[in-house]
Amino acid sequence: MCGIVGYVGPQRAQDVVVDGLRRLEYRGYDSAGVAVVHDGVLAVAKRSGKLANLEKVLADKPLPPATTGIGHTRWATHGPPNDANAHPHTGGARRVALVHNGIIENYAELRDRIEADDHVFLSETDTEIAAHLVELQVQSGVDLQVAMQRVCQQLDGAFTLVAVDAEDPGRVVAARRNSPLVVGLGEGENFLGSDVAAFIEHTREALELGQDQIVTITADEVTVTDFWGSPVEPTRFHVDWDLSAAEKDGHDWFMRKEIFEQPRAVADSLIGRRGVNGLLQLDEMRLADEEIRDLDKIIVIACGTSFYAGMVAKYAIEHWTRTPVEVELASEFRYRDPIVDNTTLVVAISQSGETADTLQAIRHAKSQGAKVLAICNTNGSSIPRESDAVIYTHAGPEIGVASTKGFLTQLVACYLLALYVAQVKGTRYGDEIDEIMGQLEAMPDHIDTVLTRADSIYELARAHVATRSVLFLGRHAGYPVALEGALKLKELAYIHAEGFAAGELKHGPIALIEEGLPVLCVVPPRGRDQLHAKMLGGIQEVRARGARTICLAEEGDHTIEPYADDLIRLPQVPVLLQPLVAIIPLQLFACELATALGHDVDQPRNLAKSVTVE
Ligand code: AGP
Repeated sequence: MCGIVGYVGPQRAQDVVVDGLRRLEYRGYDSAGVAVVHDGVLAVAKRSGKLANLEKVLADKPLPPATTGIGHTRWATHGPPNDANAHPHTGGARRVALVHNGIIENYAELRDRIEADDHVFLSETDTEIAAHLVELQVQSGVDLQVAMQRVCQQLDGAFTLVAVDAEDPGRVVAARRNSPLVVGLGEGENFLGSDVAAFIEHTREALELGQDQIVTITADEVTVTDFWGSPVEPTRFHVDWDLSAAEKDGHDWFMRKEIFEQPRAVADSLIGRRGVNGLLQLDEMRLADEEIRDLDKIIVIACGTSFYAGMVAKYAIEHWTRTPVEVELASEFRYRDPIVDNTTLVVAISQSGETADTLQAIRHAKSQGAKVLAICNTNGSSIPRESDAVIYTHAGPEIGVASTKGFLTQLVACYLLALYVAQVKGTRYGDEIDEIMGQLEAMPDHIDTVLTRADSIYELARAHVATRSVLFLGRHAGYPVALEGALKLKELAYIHAEGFAAGELKHGPIALIEEGLPVLCVVPPRGRDQLHAKMLGGIQEVRARGARTICLAEEGDHTIEPYADDLIRLPQVPVLLQPLVAIIPLQLFACELATALGHDVDQPRNLAKSVTVE
């Protein structure tokens, strides 16, 4: 998820674009850049690191006083965060500059095609190919709008592209597919932005763009077509948010915004995972097939929410690959003298990629000869840098300290790893893997369905503002969900909350049950041997002792109704994938209860987004 700004008008483009990027810095902050068109030439400045680094460069050496420009703050997906990979990118003749948000799935084949024509690429990004392709088009004699149309017809994946042509000043052209872009309508000036925060200080009149559309802005005109040149009438709207709300897409908290971004984050984490031959491809993984075939054990190490993702991974990897999996708290791992050797794959799960416990644990594992694979959301951070292989999640920057979309995209990465190992080891047939991939690709819609039930979950949460203790129960893959749900409530509402394996209750914790104690129960799908029946038994045990049961159960499961004081419906999904939908109500519950208690949801007390001390 990156920040994009475009401008045409009477103001100095560099100033408008940089101000806009500053409003969007929460969308990505590992590099930034600006390009302007002046006297028939491009002027480009870009730097790795935070926007402040670029501002220092511009303070020393401002761009020419141009009035047409584009800019970008990057959240790296392809290529580490460095100056060369920072956007804007240009074509070989430095006539076209272009910025991009998203993932161009077929960039490799497109790049091979034009590299053969002696095109030299300066970066490792997927974006640069688009700059070259657009430039080739304008060099053939078509205008920037037609050039963009023709290029978008060749691209697969999710993208927002914004470009300028040095020989066509006063015009910015953009395209969007499955990636955000809005138009700001000014007086004698117009704006483009990844969201309204980019231009809200200049105008609150905006245009919403639809799928597969191209927009051209000049100082006085905005025209919209589809990818094939047919005119389109965009939807106009008035922005009634203030700047702070605009950065959160109108939500009160970044966390709430990130909860509602989860369908897109899961979809983005699945992009490009199927090869042209239908086989699963994890090309950034860099583990050779024979290394995977030789694996005799997998140890997952992580902390907090990421540890619970690892617990779900254990169920999936062992079920689909028959490879033994241990899941370890990173802070405990190296002190227990673990049995690790060169047939062990250590999987380090970390949203930030900077967690000290996890970093120290992988260093220990490597010293014992293990291969290390990182599952991480932050390109170029320490943990993937020190690992032998990596699977990046594509959640975009997660600002809220409490992890939500980071967790869901970790689950997706773990499922993909399990399926990939199964494919290489041959423990699952291709059509089985294909079926599960299809189920995963349907998950964004299922997550959306749960999110439509948010208001009833908020009402339930607000009814518990006086609660001082909550239990969470789950079985099988629902057990890590119970633990994660309890952690969310602890870290946001500062309420004692504890997750249990439902089968463990009768071995002691059931003594905690008393009249009115809220117990959130993650009910597994029906049809899985005794799992569902045993969970119902546990729910009856606590309810018989006075607990207030809040049950999360799949649609159509009527057996749960007599035992649920409150019932939250989940879409019908396979048991191993149920965590992707079951955690959503628990995230919403914790977020709303903390809000009702007046807590700072984005920055809870005593916590940090990345724990860089052991
Ligand atoms: C989760 O909501 C917490 N913020 C915390 O448990 C976090 O998951 C843990 O610190 C691990 O962080 P990481 O994924 O960045 O390594």
